[in-house]
Amino acid sequence: KTTVLTGITTTGTPHLGNYVGAIRPAIEASRDRTLTPYFFLADFHALIKCHEPDRVAESRREIAATWLALGLDTENAVFYRQSDVPEIPELTWLLTCVTAKGLMNRAHAYKASVQDNLDAGDRDPDAGITMGLYSYPILMAADILLFNANKVPVGRDQIQHIEMARDIGQRFNHIFGGDFFTLPEAVVDDRVAVLNGLDGRKMSKSYNNTIPLFEPEKKFRKLVNKIKTNSLEPGEPKETEGCTLFQIYSAFASAEESEQMRQRYAEGIGWGEMKKELFEYLNAQLSQPREEYQRLMADPGYVEGVLQEGAERARSYATPFLEKLKAAAGLGRFV
Ligand code: TYM
Repeated sequence: KTTVLTGITTTGTPHLGNYVGAIRPAIEASRDRTLTPYFFLADFHALIKCHEPDRVAESRREIAATWLALGLDTENAVFYRQSDVPEIPELTWLLTCVTAKGLMNRAHAYKASVQDNLDAGDRDPDAGITMGLYSYPILMAADILLFNANKVPVGRDQIQHIEMARDIGQRFNHIFGGDFFTLPEAVVDDRVAVLNGLDGRKMSKSYNNTIPLFEPEKKFRKLVNKIKTNSLEPGEPKETEGCTLFQIYSAFASAEESEQMRQRYAEGIGWGEMKKELFEYLNAQLSQPREEYQRLMADPGYVEGVLQEGAERARSYATPFLEKLKAAAGLGRFV
């Protein structure tokens, strides 16, 4: 059986980009009985970027409720919080000790932070960078390798991390002489790629340009209306290429519907009309799960129970496997 695994960092409210890039494919995979899916809330990862306990706590509840509201099949899929599986940070240490520092120097997230410092004229290129950010890819490698995941569905921005997980896994295998780890592959759905946000840049919590998935209807409409467009008037033919409204529409619509919309662009649909269409189209798909989401947000006991059960299932795999890995490194029991 193929093991599929992915996580989402619990620092923000799930947005349309997370949905299209990560949550929707995961929900589909959760129903596929030929797969063993592992999905988790990456709450240890959250501490890398966010030291506001309330924000992290809120985000974990929101993300858990989102996945469940959208119909995650938790009979088949193992759904858990990273911080409920202590084997993950334990494995992180074993991996840290075989990971070359030079590999971490090349990680995009770290390099971007160094570049920001240099651009800001900071004398210390590492100013404000924690060891958490620096060794982030090792924690992520542990997430993946601990469950011997074959396939890791992610957005483009995460591909490097999966490659690093392979490198790190290979290195452990080589040093301790065994085929301990399956080497994971990133799965990037080219049809969706990266969804853009309100300002036309990649939709991201860090750009503050997101459209939350379950925003109440009124606010949701307002946000859709705020999506940036060019200044072409109704009646003037428009390009679909590079248009955020079209991009979001086609990420939700069928190929046929997108084609029809392309026609309407050529015929000069006005931006006001297009925004109305987009809002109505999304709202029709999201209103029912939005209600379920509200219900789940009001029932934390239920959600907690689901996550506890998930953690138990995750650990039933992780505990014996970690024992084996520790033994390979000389940390087994005496007798
Ligand atoms: P995170 O939380 O930043 O994003 C979660 C997933 O959503 C994808 N994504 C997008 N896809 C399309 N359009 C967008 N605008 C968009 N924004 C985000 C991301 O590529 C990602 O797949 N480090 C990871 C979480 C993680 C993880 C893991 C993933 C921790 N451990 C192990 C896989 C396996 C992260 O920060 O993703």
